[in-house]
Amino acid sequence: MPRPPLLAASLLLVSAGAFGANADAVDAAELALGKRLFTQSAVPACALCHTLRDAGSEGAVGPVLDEIKPDADRVTKALRNGLGNMPAFKTLSEAEIKALARYVSTATGAAASN
Ligand code: HEC
Repeated sequence: MPRPPLLAASLLLVSAGAFGANADAVDAAELALGKRLFTQSAVPACALCHTLRDAGSEGAVGPVLDEIKPDADRVTKALRNGLGNMPAFKTLSEAEIKALARYVSTATGAAASN
């Protein structure tokens, strides 16, 4: 007995639904990139100097980010210009800076401003 084509059709609908969630997937990818940069790929990694609970880091050179809760603009400025003993991160791309700003401001509960 031939299988009804209904099953294939509903599978298609389900995957179309997943594409509908594209914006969420992009957000999640950006946050994941920010976290990866924070914990290991930025040079030097933010985690070496900063404590951030979400990232599991306990660096003690710079301020505890969970306490100062910087918004995205503040993170962006620190990365572009450096601040005190924190170096400017000249080798990061715009997308990487944005991902870090988004990740840090989200992870600390500060309102993201972009
Ligand atoms: C070599 C150690 C070091 C590294 C690596 C480092 N920071 Fe910092 N960071 C500091 C210090 C020190 C300060 C405090 C500067 C001051 O207020 O004089 C600071 C301050 C900050 C601030 C607060 C800025 C403000 O306006 O008060 C943010 C946000 C920040 N860092 C984010 C990051 C991020 C994100 C990274 C990784 C890309 C990073 N830091 C890497 C040492 C570091």
